[in-house]
Amino acid sequence: MFVDPRGNSDTTTLIYTSPDVLKRGVYLTEFDIHVGYIHIKNPIALAPMAGITNIDFVMDNAMSAGIAVIGGYNLDDATNEAARRINERGRAEFLTPDPIEHMRRELDRLKGIDNPPTVALNVRSTEITPLIKAALLAKEYDAILEIDCHCRQPEMIDIGVGEPLLHDLPKLGSIISKVKKTGVVLSVKTRSGIVDDRELAVAIEGAGADIIHIDAMEPGFGADYNAIKTVRNATDLFIIGNNSVTDFRSAKDMFGYGSDMVSLARAVLEIPGVIDTLVRSVTTFQKQTGWYNAPKHICSGGDDRALAFCCLPVKRCALMQVLRRYGMTPQEFADLKVELSRGTPLELGDNTCFGTLIWCCKLTKPCFMRDAVLAQIGISGARYMELKKRLSEGILEHLEKLPISAAVND
Ligand SMILES: Cc1cc2nc3c(=O)[nH]c(=O)nc-3n(C[C@H](O)[C@H](O)[C@H](O)COP(=O)(O)O)c2cc1C
Ligand code: SF4
Ligand code: SF4
Repeated sequence: MFVDPRGNSDTTTLIYTSPDVLKRGVYLTEFDIHVGYIHIKNPIALAPMAGITNIDFVMDNAMSAGIAVIGGYNLDDATNEAARRINERGRAEFLTPDPIEHMRRELDRLKGIDNPPTVALNVRSTEITPLIKAALLAKEYDAILEIDCHCRQPEMIDIGVGEPLLHDLPKLGSIISKVKKTGVVLSVKTRSGIVDDRELAVAIEGAGADIIHIDAMEPGFGADYNAIKTVRNATDLFIIGNNSVTDFRSAKDMFGYGSDMVSLARAVLEIPGVIDTLVRSVTTFQKQTGWYNAPKHICSGGDDRALAFCCLPVKRCALMQVLRRYGMTPQEFADLKVELSRGTPLELGDNTCFGTLIWCCKLTKPCFMRDAVLAQIGISGARYMELKKRLSEGILEHLEKLPISAAVND
């Protein structure tokens, strides 16, 4: 008997596998999400909307979120003047002539509240000093500072804040490294497809930022998941994937290409309770599968973490391109997976396609042979995925030491 969740929004039936495998001893019931000094309670975030996302909005819509990004706040005279002109033509903006005190008052409102979201302050400034002051404030409140490299309102572009920073990597890198000296957990909000996504992410990581919050926009097509995958494969940055997340299916896609978290903006305005619904769904999914952001298989477009789910390399398939990128032979890859799985239950599984669970697919791919092995050896689906996650981490740790061939970079 199988549970079929397709088209079903019931959060108790999110995966397509044997209920027996689901029931047996769930191991991972909580999220283990940390960035620097911050523990994040779950991987769903509110994305910033200028003039809208303040603490009142968070209290009404996003108290269950892992992160609530508020702002964008304007930290200096030039950005406040630009915001005033944007307001005048009818688009909402926060006018914050005394931004640090304003943000402090907002942060204070969550004090004493049980289990609030982590707050991130999305900010713009033409000068460095206000950014540093905002960083110190964020750090004082165990919050995140987020530099807005996303805004493309003409008034902001004219003064060189927002999207123009994506085109000036030396300037962006210099801002990041100066702000990071405060010790704040730093996020950079970007748009994909504007400049080379890989080069941008590598520069952001190199300058010392912790988080990249990517609006993976593809005009007219919704989200560009490949942009997330590119960043996942190129960096160790914590990724918040953003754009067109409206339900668990779209969130799961964002996770499957490498996002550590997903964020929502417009959907929060349009779908009442969407953050609460998603938090419930992803929590159930984590309990059932043990790896809420497990990658899609490589042949379904997944990122390199998915090598943990790859078959014994005996045929021509998408795996070969990944191995070529790392200059690795199929035999070396097979040896690596075997070595990293030694002494774990993944070595078992005579009745699977390739004789051990080392080569088996992810839990959400239905397979009675794998599930029979899991039943026989008495481990849950969540435990199986936990072992695959560790295998994936081991593989990536090994691959990071290898030179990547730029010629076959994806
Ligand atoms: C009204 C509005 C205001 C926004 N203001 C900001 C902002 O101040 N800073 C920022 O980084 N992104 C801002 N964004 C972009 C959103 O955070 C998000 O990246 C974008 O809407 C795509 O995500 P979605 O599909 O979930 O809406 C804004 C978006 C909207 C709709
Ligand atoms: S080895 Fe298997 S899972 Fe990996 S890409 Fe090839 S067919 Fe897909
Ligand atoms: S036994 Fe099932 S899970 Fe394992 S490789 Fe074959 S199809 Fe995939």
